Amino acid sequence: MKKQKEIVMSGIRPTGFLHLGNYFGALQNYVRMQDEYQCFFMVADLHSLTTHPDTKELKENVLRVLAENIACGLNPEKVALYCQSHIYETSELYLYLNMLAYKGELEKTTTFKEKARLQPDNINAGLLTYPVLQTADIILHRASLVPVGKDQEQHLEMARNFVNRFNHRYGEVFPEPKAFNYGSELIKVPSLDGAGKMSKSENQYATLYLADDDEAIRKKVMKAKTDNGPVIPNSPKPEYIENIFLLMRLVCDDSIVQKFDQEYNNCKIRYGDLKKQLAEDMVKFISPIREKVNEILGNNKYLQQVMEQGAEKARKSAKTTMELVRQAIGLKYF
Ligand code: TYM
Repeated sequence: MKKQKEIVMSGIRPTGFLHLGNYFGALQNYVRMQDEYQCFFMVADLHSLTTHPDTKELKENVLRVLAENIACGLNPEKVALYCQSHIYETSELYLYLNMLAYKGELEKTTTFKEKARLQPDNINAGLLTYPVLQTADIILHRASLVPVGKDQEQHLEMARNFVNRFNHRYGEVFPEPKAFNYGSELIKVPSLDGAGKMSKSENQYATLYLADDDEAIRKKVMKAKTDNGPVIPNSPKPEYIENIFLLMRLVCDDSIVQKFDQEYNNCKIRYGDLKKQLAEDMVKFISPIREKVNEILGNNKYLQQVMEQGAEKARKSAKTTMELVRQAIGLKYF
């Protein structure tokens, strides 16, 4: 008998242009996983309403994220690529899971605290229960692997707690979902200013977006924080220099990284040269993706077709799960 493929699920919020963090934390893994697993990837438009209640730019952002997913190598024929709000079952499952999530644990979530600090006038219940909705997204397809970056680790831990509570109370319906990366650890792509990470909405001058033009890429890289270089051979690298080497390892040839590493250790490094090299390799990496995105965005009909086809696949899987869920909870009376 053919072995059932493990199920994979992940999503990205349409709250701005995608960046290198989204690529290396998430998209790169999606693309590799599409050949090995049964995959569900979506644009998390409902989640974006927790922080972006103004929906004027929503449509444009949703279509862009969809196009960016495809431009990075996702094949809509192989995976279900869809929009979160098109699958109504998500909201139903979210409601059931809300009865299993406690105020105390939700209030302690790092992302909730951060967002509450950023938007003190809009600490809505959706923001508080954000990890519950994320759990619904994942387990709606009974997924066990969730390719995400390091910043999503706590949400995945919470998802496992909610799943265990559900299974304990109503019977085994869901596998435990795990955060996934092909390497040994989840990735955090740092920003270029030596502090924090690349982000869709913060740190914009220190974040490399997949939509940046060549000049913007060069400018941002050349402005990355460095110093006068080490004076003692083999000294440890300060965090902002370590971060630049991390970015180099993502896009430059190994031999180039080794060369600069050696120069660093011999106190001969010239950061101007290093940044020029990094900038050119970034341009080489980003520009074909940017051009592909623009090409795809020019074909509205194709995007609509992808979205509809993705929703159809996702609904099919959601429907089966929700039958099991309603049965397990005891909502079937006849
Ligand atoms: P979002 O939209 O913030 O980010 C999308 C993906 O990109 C990863 N990521 C990063 N990885 C490495 N370094 C960075 N600097 C960096 N910035 C972002 C994120 O870890 C994520 O994998 N809550 C999710 C969206 C979501 C979801 C889901 C994810 C909704 N439902 C179900 C997985 C499963 C979010 O806000 O991602």
